[in-house]
Amino acid sequence: MEIYKRISSGNLIRWSIFYFLPVFVTASEVSLQETVEGFIGGSAVLPCSPEEPPITIQDIHVRWKIKYMQNVYEIINGQVSVEEQDQQYKNRVESFPEEYLRGNFSIKLYNLQHTDAGEYTCYIFMKNKSEDRSVELLIKEKSEKLIPSEGTKPRPEMTVMIISILFIGIISSLANSVTGVST
Ligand SMILES: *[C@@H]1O[C@H](CO)[C@@H](O)[C@H](O)[C@H]1NC(C)=O
Ligand SMILES: *[C@@H]1O[C@H](CO)[C@@H](O)[C@H](O)[C@H]1NC(C)=O
Repeated sequence: MEIYKRISSGNLIRWSIFYFLPVFVTASEVSLQETVEGFIGGSAVLPCSPEEPPITIQDIHVRWKIKYMQNVYEIINGQVSVEEQDQQYKNRVESFPEEYLRGNFSIKLYNLQHTDAGEYTCYIFMKNKSEDRSVELLIKEKSEKLIPSEGTKPRPEMTVMIISILFIGIISSLANSVTGVST
């Protein structure tokens, strides 16, 4: 009996390590994923940096994809290549060549559309090793708050306040006239 118990508690610990550890690791990986927000018609910078910067420009090969499928952007031997770029991204993506040697392969997406939303992955191939980074792009409708002429427009709260004051005024004058009649 005791031996059986010892084995089963040992199994339990092993079971926990096997089943819970991956869960923890997966959960922390998921929460580490970056999220970027953009607005329809606006732009967004999708970050991508390897652990260590490249040694030479020629050493760099970076490929950006969306949903692991469509080609968004490519840098081959330090040169931008749009040969295999998906039509959807034509003339809408730029990178920052002056940042390459600092290990910054971020891209900027312009004129954002609903269809741009999703997971982007940046695959970095360097002489010695390859890495990848993922970032989730969320697309939102243009926010009213971002329109610069906001200050000149009446704010909705003000309109609501004015209407409520008018309403209260009407109600109280009605109430007064009713009480006036009844007394
Ligand atoms: C990479 O470069 C872009 C453009 O200059 C900048 O917006 C971004 O913050 C840079 N990222 C890092 C990690 O330096
Ligand atoms: C390959 O990686 C090692 C250690 O990470 C480094 O010392 C070496 O310089 C790298 N070689 C090249 C060609 O990048």
